Amino acid sequence: MTPRLIKVSPSILAIDYNNDEVLEKALADIEKAKANYVHVDVMDGKFVKNKTFDHKFVDKLKDKTNLMLDVHLMVENPDAVIDDYANAGADILTVHYEACKDARATLKKISDKNIVTGLAISPKTPVLKIKDYLDEGLVDIVVVMGVKPGACGQAFIPGSAEKVAEIRELNKKVYIEIDGGVTLKNASLLRKMGVNIIVSGSTIFNAKNMKKVIKNLKGRGFFNKIINKF
Ligand code: DX5
Ligand code: ZN
Repeated sequence: MTPRLIKVSPSILAIDYNNDEVLEKALADIEKAKANYVHVDVMDGKFVKNKTFDHKFVDKLKDKTNLMLDVHLMVENPDAVIDDYANAGADILTVHYEACKDARATLKKISDKNIVTGLAISPKTPVLKIKDYLDEGLVDIVVVMGVKPGACGQAFIPGSAEKVAEIRELNKKVYIEIDGGVTLKNASLLRKMGVNIIVSGSTIFNAKNMKKVIKNLKGRGFFNKIINKF
């Protein structure tokens, strides 16, 4: 397979995001450390137990960073809030297959806003459930959850790497993002299986040397080797 350029999307769920000083430092740090996106975990306390923030927070983030906002909606009825997140400046908008009444309509609604479409599957959801949407070209990024959605710092569920491989086998072009439980150890297997985007909360924000960790998550693929020189 052609070497892929791996992008890294640090999840600010791993920091005290309600503290402006902490948030601004984290955003500056990840940008300096050559992260590609900011991963923004929206939780409504219904689709998952925890509650984080809503579109107003995304609006605020937009003014604080130059990085693209990779917004992961862990909410019930995502259709109802797509307009809000589009207006707030989401660059990538991911909805959960399990939360959609009609995923086809939801994905169309997102792409009509000229936003990159993401479709996430929780650990228990088989790849076959979303195959049609991939075939129909409705999904830009498939987000494979490596943990049960709802919290950072959980252990990676091993079968998730096989799901990445299964998607890559079905579709050579779609972007695959892995979210949850990624470590420096399992990242290389995930890259081999066909991942394009690596989300990481604890591995990045607990790192002593964030730049080195992000570089190692990207791996040593041909393009990354060249890009890392600059
Ligand atoms: C889990 C979130 C993830 C999580 C990643 O519901 O979607 O983005 O914050 O954190 P780590 O990398 O610590 O598993
Ligand atoms: Zn996430």
